[in-house]
Amino acid sequence: MRVLLVGSGGREHALAATLARSPKLTALFIAPGNPGTAELGTNVAIGASDVPALITFAKEQKVDLIVPGPEAPLVAGLADACAAAGLACAGPTQAAARLEGSKSFSKEVCYAAGVPTARGERFTDADAAITYIAERGAPIVVKADGLAAGKGVVVAQTVAEAQDAVREMMTQGSMGEAGRSVVIEDCLVGEEVSLFAFCSGETAMLIGAAQDHKRIGDNDTGPNTGGMGAVSPPRGFDRAAQEAALDLLVRPMLKEMARRGTPFRGVIFAGLMLTETGPQLIEYNVRFGDPEAQALLLRLTSDLLPALAALAQDTLDTTPVTFSDQAAISVVMAARGYPAKPETGAVISGIVDADALEGVRVFQAGTKENLAGELVVAGGRVLSVCALGETVQEARDRAYAGVKAISWDGAAWRTDIGARAL
Ligand code: AMP
Ligand code: GLY
Repeated sequence: MRVLLVGSGGREHALAATLARSPKLTALFIAPGNPGTAELGTNVAIGASDVPALITFAKEQKVDLIVPGPEAPLVAGLADACAAAGLACAGPTQAAARLEGSKSFSKEVCYAAGVPTARGERFTDADAAITYIAERGAPIVVKADGLAAGKGVVVAQTVAEAQDAVREMMTQGSMGEAGRSVVIEDCLVGEEVSLFAFCSGETAMLIGAAQDHKRIGDNDTGPNTGGMGAVSPPRGFDRAAQEAALDLLVRPMLKEMARRGTPFRGVIFAGLMLTETGPQLIEYNVRFGDPEAQALLLRLTSDLLPALAALAQDTLDTTPVTFSDQAAISVVMAARGYPAKPETGAVISGIVDADALEGVRVFQAGTKENLAGELVVAGGRVLSVCALGETVQEARDRAYAGVKAISWDGAAWRTDIGARAL
């Protein structure tokens, strides 16, 4: 099977490594990929959201399956363009990708489907939002309505902080168009976990779960990021609990989407809070998580390729998804200044040494080769250093040994990934 994988982050490097293990794979292209994916297949210089160029390339290369990594191409209509061109795509249509692309839309679907979620209201007027926050009180959550790469959410501890966030997003345009309308939500309290499932129409098959670490700083301090590290499986959320959450938070949504004539196909990633009164949905994403995928996929023992190929044919593969009982950790190494203003250009050393450590695997994200052929920092999240272990403790020790082996000027990482899962 000839596969075109779309994206360039750590998740895509991990997906490439997982697909490369499949006996069914005959060719792997990655658009645009990164220096890490270049070792597993052929990088193609096409941007992840350049839908027409992706389609032209896939037709020329007789690609059998397109695997989208990030959400942007899906929200831009990649799956629809594939369908029109007779190409198979393991991701949702533009209409179904609105589950991630619009927070107000996904709220509306939750309400219609009876999925437990925080109470929220959408505002297009800053003054009305500011008044609502004063009435509702803190803690309270302010979210840019559109896509903001995980950075458009402020969990405010005070009314003033929430109101400032509204002014920044709506009046000063800090999130661009994504923040012209906002959703203001009640704050959910509990452990946050990420649940993944293959979905086709009204049916869903559990993949597994992981726990992300969203804040930039240790002990969950500082601003939200795209994710600074993940552990799989998360503590206190076993397979039975994951299946129950799928019944409560995913299957009713699938039914509602099908009823609306916009059935969902692909990988669903439900971000949820394990509250005192049970799991509540925080958000749907229409793809694998980054850095959750890196940890989750390290544990996967079944073949990912047939599972993805089945999704593209609007079915579920009959082979169950299987995992090793080991724990996996991914620790993101980021550039100094991330998430606000990452510093790029520093030369990275030590990846080969880290990869040589037992159980360790380094996935690249914001990296590139400079003119001298050196690997340099080219983005905010630079690497995810991942490890498997018999226990979370062992996986952590191994991953952090990997981190220690790698260096560049300005490397930053959290030191507490997986600590709560111990
Ligand atoms: P989202 O982009 O909706 O996933 O939000 C990003 C992060 O903000 C989530 O992963 C949570 O950590 C946090 N968050 C979002 N909504 C809520 C909420 N209603 N209550 C508490 N935390 C939230
Ligand atoms: N790690 C969260 C995300 O991929 O959105």
